[in-house]
Amino acid sequence: MLTSSLLLLASFGVCLVQSATLEELYLHNAPSFPRPYVIPHYANSHAVTIGDQLYRFTVTGPSSDNAFTLMSTNAPSSGALGVLPHIHKRHSENFFNLKGRFQLWAQKGADEQQARLLTQGDYGSVPRNTTHTFQILDPDTEMVGVVVPGGFEELFYALGTNYTSGTDTPFVPAVSNSSSTSDPSIITSLQKFDVYAQLDFEPRRDLVNGTAPVDNSNWHTGDNALGTSGKPYFVANGYGPKYLSSKYGYQVIQPLVTKQAQDANYTLSTISLSRQTKDNTPTYILPGAAAFEVLEGVLMIQIGNYPVATLYTGDVAFIPVGVAFTYYTEVPFTKLLYVNSGSNGVDSQLIKGAKRMSTPNPLVLELATIEDIPAITELWFTVFNDPGMRHLIPDTPGAHEWFTEANRTDMLTKPYQKYIKVVDANTKDTQGRARIVAYAKWDLAMPDERGARFPPWHGDMPGQDCDAFFGGLERARRRVMGDRKHYCKLDPRELTAYLLCDCC
Ligand SMILES: *[C@@H]1O[C@H](CO)[C@@H](O)[C@H](O)[C@H]1NC(C)=O
Ligand SMILES: *[C@@H]1O[C@H](CO)[C@@H](O)[C@H](O)[C@H]1NC(C)=O
Ligand SMILES: *[C@@H]1O[C@H](CO)[C@@H](O)[C@H](O)[C@H]1NC(C)=O
Ligand SMILES: *[C@@H]1O[C@H](CO)[C@@H](O)[C@H](O)[C@H]1NC(C)=O
Ligand SMILES: *[C@@H]1O[C@H](CO)[C@@H](O)[C@H](O)[C@H]1NC(C)=O
Ligand SMILES: *[C@@H]1O[C@H](CO)[C@@H](O)[C@H](O)[C@H]1NC(C)=O
Repeated sequence: MLTSSLLLLASFGVCLVQSATLEELYLHNAPSFPRPYVIPHYANSHAVTIGDQLYRFTVTGPSSDNAFTLMSTNAPSSGALGVLPHIHKRHSENFFNLKGRFQLWAQKGADEQQARLLTQGDYGSVPRNTTHTFQILDPDTEMVGVVVPGGFEELFYALGTNYTSGTDTPFVPAVSNSSSTSDPSIITSLQKFDVYAQLDFEPRRDLVNGTAPVDNSNWHTGDNALGTSGKPYFVANGYGPKYLSSKYGYQVIQPLVTKQAQDANYTLSTISLSRQTKDNTPTYILPGAAAFEVLEGVLMIQIGNYPVATLYTGDVAFIPVGVAFTYYTEVPFTKLLYVNSGSNGVDSQLIKGAKRMSTPNPLVLELATIEDIPAITELWFTVFNDPGMRHLIPDTPGAHEWFTEANRTDMLTKPYQKYIKVVDANTKDTQGRARIVAYAKWDLAMPDERGARFPPWHGDMPGQDCDAFFGGLERARRRVMGDRKHYCKLDPRELTAYLLCDCC
């Protein structure tokens, strides 16, 4: 065992010393055996055309020892499906939008058919035995595909026409609406490539705001959880789980496929990183093959004994099992798509020491209504829980009732008191209503007009202490605010601006 490891190290050493120039790191086509390499965006990459679609394969079965295939599809917009509906029994397929727009359909067994419109950075997971198809909708669209295990490119080699271009154009800009397999007799003959046609599948067209079904998908409106093992799911750009690692500069890891959620053999994530120096970056040696594709910014990566390579959007770096590498960026923001065979890649390692971030939800300012009063009472007792306030208004059912009744009466009988609330539309309270996260009671009247601030104290409350404390507040108000009304009247919709700016 020891001897063979030493031999392995020795053979790596020899290999790396012999080929340590940048020219040798850069390839135009994925190699026929695993070795470190970089393929620039739009390099030939075993390109084939199928109809209008131009497919490139930057990581292949042979180049990754069958760990995964990394591919891209560039195509003009099309009025037709990109491929007839089908399933794969042995391959998991991942769709990522690098640019443009495409629509993706997926249905597992008798589950409801799902459809999403994917824009830049959006992701769709198509596990094995899931019927799926897609359609390219914008003139300059690029889908990035990750297929596990590797070798799936064989299908496209067999179906397509080899393509070369003097200018490395993304695609040939002609629109003919041709799908990659419009002929049912062709797609039904592809079972040896793990393609099983599902010609009865009717892609639904009832998308609203990019999703069908419309309910509960939170498509570009709220959190998108990773799906459970074997089921398709979709993660809109920035709406999935996020982890902040501050160990080596700042890195935000957004997992798309994890071992925990999908029980998968590989992980897929985006990693966004801040500027950092090469000295502050660790060296990784991984037990699985890995690849980076730059989505935005500029990636510096050093693999094995090769010099540091500089990668731009769409460029791909491949790192075989056991080869040391380090990566960083010298620009303020760089975002990468990262795929790793096995479950202990850079993404999983970073997530272990990182903080879970929450998606900022849109908070909404609204006028509160009579139905909100009990929730406001509960929120008040949750927040004002210091011993001094607990002494004055104790946490008893009687005091809760007094508080609720005081506000209910005020809201019903004092139109010059305005109640506003801020709700988090994405979380629900125990009544199933949008949760109130903040409230305010704004009194337009002067103290003399409105009379006593509170009704008589409840028996659970210490009357003298309440008089002293709340009476003191009332006196202080008169002293500080005087007789002047320190507000101007605004439309409720302008209230936000008013509260933010102190402009009146
Ligand atoms: C197409 O390209 C592949 C390599 O990507 C090569 O093996 C094959 O022979 C080519 N086919 C034709 C018809 O030129
Ligand atoms: C996991 O990966 C290995 C090698 O990449 C492969 O042979 C195996 O079939 C995979 N297992 C699953 C469940 O995909
Ligand atoms: C492509 O399909 C669209 C929508 O079906 C149609 O309007 C358009 O004329 C077609 N274009 C071509 C070149 O066939
Ligand atoms: C896919 O479906 C086939 C039957 O068509 C079944 O034999 C196989 O186990 C399924 N694979 C997975 C991963 O569910
Ligand atoms: C679609 O989006 C618009 C604009 O955000 C929104 O007003 C509308 O309610 C949405 N439709 C559905 C069905 O969610
Ligand atoms: C009534 O509700 C407001 C918030 O809307 C709160 O500030 C006030 O203290 C509440 N209680 C009473 C007894 O007025």
